[in-house]
Amino acid sequence: MQLRQIGTSEIHATPIVFGAWAIGGWLWGGTDDEAAIEGIHAGLDAGINAIDTAPAYGFGHSERIVGEAVAQRQDDVLIFTKCGLRWDSDRGQHHYDTVDNEGKPVQLYRNLRRDSILRECELSLERLGVECIDLYQCHWPDATTPIKETMGALTELLDQKMIRAIGLSNFTPGMIEECLQYGPVHCSQPKFSLLSRDNYDGVITWCHEHDIATIVYSPLEQGLLTGKVTVDRTFNEGDQRNDKPWFTEENIRRVNGVIDAVLAPIAEVHKATIAQVVLAWTIAAAPITCALAGARNAGQASENAGAMYVDLSEEQFDAIREAFWRIEGP
Ligand SMILES: NC(=O)c1ccc[n+]([C@@H]2O[C@H](COP(=O)([O-])OP(=O)(O)OC[C@H]3O[C@@H](n4cnc5c(N)ncnc54)[C@H](OP(=O)(O)O)[C@@H]3O)[C@@H](O)[C@H]2O)c1
Repeated sequence: MQLRQIGTSEIHATPIVFGAWAIGGWLWGGTDDEAAIEGIHAGLDAGINAIDTAPAYGFGHSERIVGEAVAQRQDDVLIFTKCGLRWDSDRGQHHYDTVDNEGKPVQLYRNLRRDSILRECELSLERLGVECIDLYQCHWPDATTPIKETMGALTELLDQKMIRAIGLSNFTPGMIEECLQYGPVHCSQPKFSLLSRDNYDGVITWCHEHDIATIVYSPLEQGLLTGKVTVDRTFNEGDQRNDKPWFTEENIRRVNGVIDAVLAPIAEVHKATIAQVVLAWTIAAAPITCALAGARNAGQASENAGAMYVDLSEEQFDAIREAFWRIEGP
């Protein structure tokens, strides 16, 4: 398994990166800290070398858990985090209203102003217990701040060696192109799964053609593409999947039908799981650099890491693409 360069930066990550949103609890119906820490260790022990988190994931909670988990093994791991989503200030562009892990109302704002980014970086370094963030990503674009100001702050952090690479999440090619006028962009982080393919021919391919790495999020469609979500699965209160169109009874049946017909036989040949085949496909797709696989515990993390060792044949890759490209969104 070869490490993958994050754009033109010096960062080389494993193709599967540990996604630390769910372990923050927010929008995932709570979390179990002990299982989360075991999950991070299991992912690293199974060969993963990078973790993606964000201040907003549990309003500092995910970053603190990541910090605790990697405290004794910082040399083994790259830390990717984000800036630009604030819950403690109402400046910037209103993102949406939500509730925190205790059910308290929270208003989220996109804020990519210079002073906010510099402050957020200090807070993340503190929560994570590290001296430098390997990849620092704008979480969402902020229409109220000039891109020049945002890139100015990020290049300042780069020059001060507080971060090692710059990433942009949920940015369009046009926005990324504008950012490139003011500094380097090493990575983009859009959504992609075999069920959510809108970005594939868009920002993902565009970045590939412009020497910018792409780390895709929600590649397992939040668990649906593991084959383990059945129609009788229930989610905790506060779990976003209670309201997601892909998780209706009809859609779960539809997706599981394709999983059984197309993915299960391929998984059997490789003695792999459905999640591993889905992730193996994702990291084999040429324009994708890495896949962020979210996990809540050791079993999920080591299973997801195992995808790095599943080599799909060209025929299998094409068969999966063909079957899923035919599935229409909900
Ligand atoms: N930049 C952004 O705007 C953005 C947005 C979303 C995500 N992200 C990043 O991308 C990462 C991954 O995305 P995601 O967490 O939304 O979705 P995902 O990776 O597609 O799915 C993660 C969820 O699927 C279930 N799961 C994972 N592995 C499994 C396995 N082997 N077997 C059974 N179930 C399994 C777990 O939930 P259950 O156990 O509860 O079923 C887990 O929390 C996030 O952690 C975050 O770092 C970024």
